[in-house]
Amino acid sequence: MEAILLVGGQGTRLRPLTISTPKPLLPTAGVPFLAHQLARARAAGVDRIVFATSYRAEMFEAAFGTRAHGVDLVYLTEDEPLGTGGAIRNAARGLTCGPDDPVLILNGDILSGHDVQAQVAAHEKAGAAATLHLTPVDDPSRFGCVPTDADGRVTAFLEKTPHPVTDQINAGCYVFRRSAIDAIPAEEVVSVERETFPEMIASGAVVMGYVEPGYWLDVGTPEAFVQGSRDLVEGRLASSAIPGEPGERLELDGARVSPGAVVRDGTTVGRGASVEAGATVLGSVLLDEAHVEEGATVRDSVVGRHARVGPGAVLDGVVLGDGAVVGPGNELRGGLRVWPGVELPATALRFSTDA
Ligand code: GTP
Repeated sequence: MEAILLVGGQGTRLRPLTISTPKPLLPTAGVPFLAHQLARARAAGVDRIVFATSYRAEMFEAAFGTRAHGVDLVYLTEDEPLGTGGAIRNAARGLTCGPDDPVLILNGDILSGHDVQAQVAAHEKAGAAATLHLTPVDDPSRFGCVPTDADGRVTAFLEKTPHPVTDQINAGCYVFRRSAIDAIPAEEVVSVERETFPEMIASGAVVMGYVEPGYWLDVGTPEAFVQGSRDLVEGRLASSAIPGEPGERLELDGARVSPGAVVRDGTTVGRGASVEAGATVLGSVLLDEAHVEEGATVRDSVVGRHARVGPGAVLDGVVLGDGAVVGPGNELRGGLRVWPGVELPATALRFSTDA
């Protein structure tokens, strides 16, 4: 089966991490995020993937080449971003399958444990134009929701509302009949969520929902990105792409963790990164060559490449950009983002964005 992977977004919610690296390539449990998706797609029977690229397009081919994780890879770049539907249509130029064949389409920022083969089987059984993975969430008011009828047919695509009619949301993994992709207008900006699906439903096309609960996470925000990395390291979602066994932490080649440091809760310590004695690092991502010095505390945070957390400093729910330096004694909390290269002198900030 062939697949299209949507990877052209700018990842604005993950800035400053996405200034230099597109979201789908951010190191996640030791490998680029997409490696987990490639491995899962392969396991579901996908043997060829077209990458729909736009933002920093050249970095994808540099990362994966023409074959990775047992899958042949092709790259199609939009000159101007075409939105999710336009990107799918543009990428279809790279497909080789016939008009009735199923094509898997994946958002490049979703971690999901659902059974892709079962989704494809449901699509074929229903003879659908498209079949969407829907996942139930605790708070559907934060998302648009997708109700289905007794036969599993999608009846509407509803915008965010305080009173959603269902807890099922679009989980960002679709099976399309090839001919339904070719029906999307070419070379136009199109949103698959706001235009293509509602129009297909209005025109009477069979759009099915494949509802499967289980592990699902959109890693589009810093909190979710850290959580996804943690879940992979701890084995809450299995991935054959992880370079190591599940455990309380993942240390990559050349990482140094002092025996006098506490590093756990699914933390990744990147290549050449270090954690000194008396430091505590919990549930965090230390990118390559990041350094956490004596007595510092880092929790639920991302420390960028070559960034440094000084002695006794505290980071809690923070993104520290590449090369940034937090001097000794600073305390940063609550979603704060430090831009690449910024240097905070000793005890400059005791800062919280909470309340
Ligand atoms: P934010 O800017 O933080 O919202 O992230 P994003 O740019 O990734 O947008 P969003 O999460 O809505 O995108 C969902 C998926 O579609 C992601 O995998 C994006 O990479 C991808 N995507 C979004 N817009 C485009 C586009 O114009 N072209 C292509 N090729 N992919 C896109």
